[in-house]
Amino acid sequence: MKYKIVTYGCQMNVHESEKLAGLLARAGYECTQNSEEADVLVFNTCCIRDTAERRALGNIGVTKALKRRNPSLIVAVCGCMPQQEGAAERIAAHYPYIDIILGTRNISRLPAEIERVLAARAAQKRKGRRTAATDMPEDYLSADEATPTLRTSYPNAWVNIIYGCNNFCTYCIVPYVRGREISRSEDAVLDEVKRAVDEGYGEITLLGQNVNSYGHDLGGGENFARLLRKIDRIPGKFRVRFMTSHPKDLTREVAEAMAESDKICRALHLPVQSGSDRVLRDMNRRYTREKYLAEIAMLRDLMPDIGLTTDIMVGFPTETEEDFQGTMSLVREVGYLNAFTFIYSPRKGTPAAAMPQLPYEIKKRRIGELIALQNSVTKELSERFVGGCYEVLAEDIADGPSGKNGMICGRTDGGRLVNFKGSPEDIGKFFRVRITSSRSASLFGEAEEKL
Ligand code: 5AD
Ligand code: SF4
Repeated sequence: MKYKIVTYGCQMNVHESEKLAGLLARAGYECTQNSEEADVLVFNTCCIRDTAERRALGNIGVTKALKRRNPSLIVAVCGCMPQQEGAAERIAAHYPYIDIILGTRNISRLPAEIERVLAARAAQKRKGRRTAATDMPEDYLSADEATPTLRTSYPNAWVNIIYGCNNFCTYCIVPYVRGREISRSEDAVLDEVKRAVDEGYGEITLLGQNVNSYGHDLGGGENFARLLRKIDRIPGKFRVRFMTSHPKDLTREVAEAMAESDKICRALHLPVQSGSDRVLRDMNRRYTREKYLAEIAMLRDLMPDIGLTTDIMVGFPTETEEDFQGTMSLVREVGYLNAFTFIYSPRKGTPAAAMPQLPYEIKKRRIGELIALQNSVTKELSERFVGGCYEVLAEDIADGPSGKNGMICGRTDGGRLVNFKGSPEDIGKFFRVRITSSRSASLFGEAEEKL
């Protein structure tokens, strides 16, 4: 029996697909990339923006034809999309050929639900052929800790530290589909990191919707800074990244833990969303432009070479031209290595979706201006790397389709992508690389030393 998993959305979803894969592998399934060959086809979905949902729904629609050719195929839709209010019922009604629907906190049930569908089919029963679970079980962590992981991102290992979000930014669907915050225990996190390091993973990325609120629900003095310090003391050659940080919860303690560590990368993804105080207030972000800029100054004071990246949204319902110009000036002021830019997309059930919306033409023009500005900042900052020497973890082959040039790529400590000559066996190793040229977001260099 073979499975194929199709993943949409963020790193959290990529990692949850590794858990779905772990569960299926333990149940004796083999992985395939070919939908025609699969006995089980799993869609791990995202609903953060309309585009993400439409992409998934389009591909789920195609399974109707697959199932006509292979009636024994089992199709599962998992993750954020079916977790929205009323969505599981809508999906089941609209796509009757879907067998299994599992919400964000039910993924560990996949193998059991497959068995149930197979048993109902074998018994030629109507009941049980289709199953859906989108509840938010209280004991989620115990099921999660018992779930195996089949890692697919070597040399990076994703490690969850906190699930859910308590923030309710007015544009965001995440708190509704991922529930309230639950932190894993320090011991569980430390054990998983140690295991990954022992298995040869050179990079650990800690995951959470808001990693900075890690531990507040545990009650033993746990917090993110303390966790970072404990991870930093784990022996071995590896580096640590984390995402995502909420600016309202970023403490000096966390910045100091980063600055004083050996292994925590000097890199921070700090989503700003907007450079206007009024829009930030309407978004319920609970920080001001001034506070955000003070944090950037504090970070740079402790780590002058820190690589900063962000998320920015344009076209929030109450965004005026002046507000948008505030975002543009903030982008110039901070100097992000990179920014993920989004057009605001109304999400049903969130407060901002009920506000009067801006015309698409305005949103489109603003995103175009913002992207052009960030591209010029990115290009200018890239040029400053040329001539310097950086430690790079080789992550992937960078040959493009030809595969003949012998190029590999990896990231600097600050998160900048570097291309250099190397072979597939070099992946997972650290190199000292001298930067010889730059092209917008990419750097090119020569390895001087294998570390
Ligand atoms: N529309 C557009 N972008 C959104 N994001 C979150 N919700 C929305 C939405 N409704 C963006 C934010 C967040 C990133 C992960 O996605 O910028 O930081
Ligand atoms: Fe969404 Fe805000 Fe939570 Fe991030 S912090 S997941 S943007 S509600």
